[in-house]
Amino acid sequence: MKGDFSPLPETVTAPRTDPIYNCHGYLTKVPVAAIEPFISTFTNSGETVADLFAGSGMTGLAALRLGRNARLSDISVLGRHIANGYATRVSPQSLRAAAEEVVAKARAALGDLYGTRRQGEERWVEMVRTIWSFTYICPSCGFNLIYFRHLSEGGAPPKKCPDCSAMFVRRQWPRGPDAPIEVVSRSPEGRLTDQPVTDFDRKLIAKAAADVRQKDVPSLEIDEEREMFSRSGLGKAGLVQTRDFFCPRNAIALLELWRAINGVEFEDVRQKLRFAFTAILPRASRRYQWSAQRPLNAQNQTYYIAPVYYEWNVFELFERKVAAALRSDEALFEDSSLFGGAAGADVDYVLASANHVPHLSSESIDYVFTDPPFGSNIFYSDMSLFHEAWLGEVTAHATEAVVHTTGKRKTGAAERYEALLSSAFAEAFRILKPGRYMSVVFGNSSGRIWGLVQRAIRSAGFRATPVHVAILDKGQRSVKGLNSGSESVVTVDLILTIQKPMSAESVPDTHVLRNGDTQRLIAEAIREIPENASHNASHVYARILRKAIQQHYILDELHLTDVLLALRDAGYIANRKTGSLILANSRSATA
Ligand SMILES: C[S@@+](CC[C@H](N)C(=O)[O-])C[C@H]1O[C@@H](n2cnc3c(N)ncnc32)[C@H](O)[C@@H]1O
Repeated sequence: MKGDFSPLPETVTAPRTDPIYNCHGYLTKVPVAAIEPFISTFTNSGETVADLFAGSGMTGLAALRLGRNARLSDISVLGRHIANGYATRVSPQSLRAAAEEVVAKARAALGDLYGTRRQGEERWVEMVRTIWSFTYICPSCGFNLIYFRHLSEGGAPPKKCPDCSAMFVRRQWPRGPDAPIEVVSRSPEGRLTDQPVTDFDRKLIAKAAADVRQKDVPSLEIDEEREMFSRSGLGKAGLVQTRDFFCPRNAIALLELWRAINGVEFEDVRQKLRFAFTAILPRASRRYQWSAQRPLNAQNQTYYIAPVYYEWNVFELFERKVAAALRSDEALFEDSSLFGGAAGADVDYVLASANHVPHLSSESIDYVFTDPPFGSNIFYSDMSLFHEAWLGEVTAHATEAVVHTTGKRKTGAAERYEALLSSAFAEAFRILKPGRYMSVVFGNSSGRIWGLVQRAIRSAGFRATPVHVAILDKGQRSVKGLNSGSESVVTVDLILTIQKPMSAESVPDTHVLRNGDTQRLIAEAIREIPENASHNASHVYARILRKAIQQHYILDELHLTDVLLALRDAGYIANRKTGSLILANSRSATA
């Protein structure tokens, strides 16, 4: 380990374009490239890194690439599946051949269900995608309003009932059955063209809906105790089973593909194909949003279904994903000398709650890099049900570190979250060798949650002041908050690196951040906004947090909303497209 931290960047930019990052979605992944500089700074080759909130295992992949061992754990069944899928190395030839074979088997088993007939042609072709629309029923006259058909040219929603002129209120009008609208297929020359759905398509859709195999489609109930049940309005939409998220034909195509994959003889190839399969699930579902310009990915933090959505050919999605998995492998295993053999690094992933990792012995770990859940933003185990239905195992979520805001678990939620983080950091402290380091990725718009994390780190025994604070810029925009003056989602996280003392020592008290200090820090940061850099409000917030931490403050009173209001008062607005701050009287300044 190098004693010098100066090569560590102050800001880690993590554009989400690398082939590893994009291969399989998981909520709030930290890109491998953002983790690598930390692992190389805080460990030597052959040493061991741990991550107790490992999620999709990016820490393990970064460790692997650098020839370090990794001990990963998380409560997430889906996280373990994704991490193992990434780390499984197969020969590209075997993967391609197996993928072709499983697709051919599944196609045959699906039969004619994906069939469509192109206008002016007699032949039968496979549909590439079908566009579906919600139907709303006018409460005044009973008119069936097929949403898509009444969008304006620019994609704006209808304002009135076309029949009786009653005002159209999306959240209040009852829904009728969704309607298939347009089907896209390939011409004999391979060109994609769309045409209105015909009775031929409707008959096949109805045939798929009545198919006895529907009951075999793996599914889990999302019950009303789950936070995401209410947050995504699932009760109202009648979406209680994960299988309800698939159009009838895609449900059967997925089932047959899954069956074929599970029949593959070689375990490593089977595992990689299962990984590619779970990676396509959001897009293979009704969560894949249509937009007039280009498809808008599935929103991975909620179960939202847009009023116009896709039914995308599962086999095409899968073939593309297998190609993406090969690109990810190429990037991941580019230096093959690091893998396998006596000198090869090893990575394991155990299902365990971070507050209790008895499989890791005390003082056995050289470095911890971890990214705990950020309070009440994301409900991992609720969202994972969608994938875990296929994996046949469900995350035990009783100890999940999240702050519930609805239902029975709302009472005492923040206290439980704090207690869990404290014991997780205590476990990290126990397993770390004395004098070694832990880096924690964290982002939240509430100073209260930041204060809670600081206290949890301190009470575990770590030195209170970090040796390094980096800003992790995930390259997303944050527009809404500033222009509306309301709360916004933070798009910039901090990476705090703290040290386990060589011996038990008393941790010096930190100052308490008083209101006056908050105002001073915010005002200073606003004065320091560079004129021509594209900073958004989250960047400014992150800089203030970093300064406050370096000046030993507890962050309880430092909220993003205060920064947004101060920015507004100082005359800043956010560029609608990029989120960059612009001084209202010089609109081009930081656009
Ligand atoms: C921010 S994510 C980590 C993402 C990870 N950095 C990655 O690259 O995929 C937080 C993780 O904490 C996990 N988690 C929540 N409560 C936990 C607990 N009590 N013990 C272990 N893991 C927990 C969630 O399942 C989730 O995977």
